[in-house]
Amino acid sequence: MRVAIIGAGPSGLAQLRAFQSAQQQGCEIPDLVCYEKQSDWGGLWNYSWRTGLDQHGEPVHGSMYRYLWSNGPKEGLEFADYSFEEHFGRPIASYPPREVLWDYIKGRVEQADVRKYIRFNCPVRQVTYNEETCLFSVTAHDHDTDEVTTETFDHVVVASGHFSTPNVPDFDGFQSFNGRILHAHDFRDALEFRGQDVLIIGSSYSAEDIGSQCYKYGARSIVTSYRSGPMGFDWPDNWEEKPLLVKVNGNTAHFADGTARHVDAIILCTGYIHHFPFLDESLRLKTDNRLWPLNIYQGTVWEANPRLFYLGMQDQWYTFNMFDAQAWFVRDVILKRIALPDAQTMVKHSQAWRQRELQIEDERGMIEFQGDYVRSLIEQTDYPSFDIDGVNKTFMAWLEHKNENILTFRDNIYRSLMTGNMATAHHTRWLEAMDDSLEAYLASPIRQSAKQQEKV
Ligand SMILES: Cc1cc2nc3c(=O)[nH]c(=O)nc-3n(C[C@H](O)[C@H](O)[C@H](O)COP(=O)(O)OP(=O)(O)OC[C@H]3O[C@@H](n4cnc5c(N)ncnc54)[C@H](O)[C@@H]3O)c2cc1C
Ligand SMILES: NC(=O)c1ccc[n+]([C@@H]2O[C@H](COP(=O)([O-])OP(=O)(O)OC[C@H]3O[C@@H](n4cnc5c(N)ncnc54)[C@H](OP(=O)(O)O)[C@@H]3O)[C@@H](O)[C@H]2O)c1
Repeated sequence: MRVAIIGAGPSGLAQLRAFQSAQQQGCEIPDLVCYEKQSDWGGLWNYSWRTGLDQHGEPVHGSMYRYLWSNGPKEGLEFADYSFEEHFGRPIASYPPREVLWDYIKGRVEQADVRKYIRFNCPVRQVTYNEETCLFSVTAHDHDTDEVTTETFDHVVVASGHFSTPNVPDFDGFQSFNGRILHAHDFRDALEFRGQDVLIIGSSYSAEDIGSQCYKYGARSIVTSYRSGPMGFDWPDNWEEKPLLVKVNGNTAHFADGTARHVDAIILCTGYIHHFPFLDESLRLKTDNRLWPLNIYQGTVWEANPRLFYLGMQDQWYTFNMFDAQAWFVRDVILKRIALPDAQTMVKHSQAWRQRELQIEDERGMIEFQGDYVRSLIEQTDYPSFDIDGVNKTFMAWLEHKNENILTFRDNIYRSLMTGNMATAHHTRWLEAMDDSLEAYLASPIRQSAKQQEKV
């Protein structure tokens, strides 16, 4: 049996680790081929300075930027089979920067020795299904050899992410705006906006975090403009929220409440689209960014052809450990340890979850919903069970800390639900921590002050 995995980000790597874990227990596993279009693993966590097209003419996958720190507590995403403490040898703080999380993701799969399954620089171009042979044909372009080849597989796992292809609305006057307009996908360095009046469109995580980055690194003023509703945090004096942008005229932005502001740059934090140009129409998931996309049973199995699976396609409160829960489930379906019901039952099951999703009233409800989903998957496999209620409580505390102060919430620490140990406070408050490197983050306070003394 052959299984193709598309993408070696946290989701695809979870799939490789899930199979390796079964193998470790003496189970025979299928032939695995993981196609990855970038030259290294880690998905979005593998930072790239590039924007637009990469060196091979492929759309750049990366949406992460310099100085990005986790926007939720690491205790919410910790792997149940590989704790932060196991990786770093000691407790660390709760909101690590990107490079630290990338290091953690890599640590587990290096230990599992699964890099050998990955073909790097190898974007998948096309996936089709043959009803007669019951096999998928996967066509990929190997940029190392510049060859396009097609291979057949019994199963395909789509783990290509959904925060990479930007949703880019147009606004009246953009054509003649006298400044830079970019989408969050192409944002790389807040220093570019130092001293500028920045307009951000959107009111979700990218708007909040890119705005905070611009504030931290010296933008003169920030306006965030919302479509549905304001974020409502207690912003600093030079940051205001306004209803939706109506038009720009030269460097003047006009808003739906009739007010206007001077702006030097506009950043569209307007989210991403689920985009699978490589999948045959009959296999393609079509959804907006939500907790319960339809047509995937248990959030993973493509109901119209249950030999194909999706990982990580939900809007995400839970991340790494949810991808694990999904990957273990998919593994067990492929290994026939879990039997799938008939198509009608799968559809009914999905619709029941969707109905429940529609009843959710607030963020707390969303967290509990996704926690229940993760629990329901874990109960079906041998993924180490962990305290989901405890993780939910950590997320609730996070929400409170954000409401207390949006610019200092990252200075809080939480207890690991995997080891029971408390995180240690970081040596520098987030607002003052300008160096986001792994080395600076892991430096002890003593080393840090010695370094500062050296500089003096
Ligand atoms: C700016 C930003 C910040 C975030 N911050 C956080 C955070 O702080 N905490 C958190 O928990 N989550 C965060 N997330 C959420 C993020 O989605 C997950 O953490 C995680 O990266 C999702 O993993 P994934 O493997 O599903 O997708 P990705 O990380 O997107 O990985 C997908 C992989 O598939 C590859 N790929 C895509 N198409 C193809 C193809 N055709 N052929 C071959 N390979 C392909 C890509 O190159 C990539 O390596 C953030 C997301 C964004 C956009
Ligand atoms: N530091 C970090 O860790 C960090 C930083 C950034 C992002 N992220 C992650 O990245 C992921 C994506 O977040 P995101 O904020 O980019 O996307 P998102 O959560 O999907 O939000 C998209 C936003 O764009 C708005 N929008 C969409 N179309 C619009 C239009 N035509 N006009 C005006 N507004 C429009 C939406 O408004 P409506 O509400 O009206 O729909 C919403 O506010 C999340 O998982 C997040 O956690 C993490």
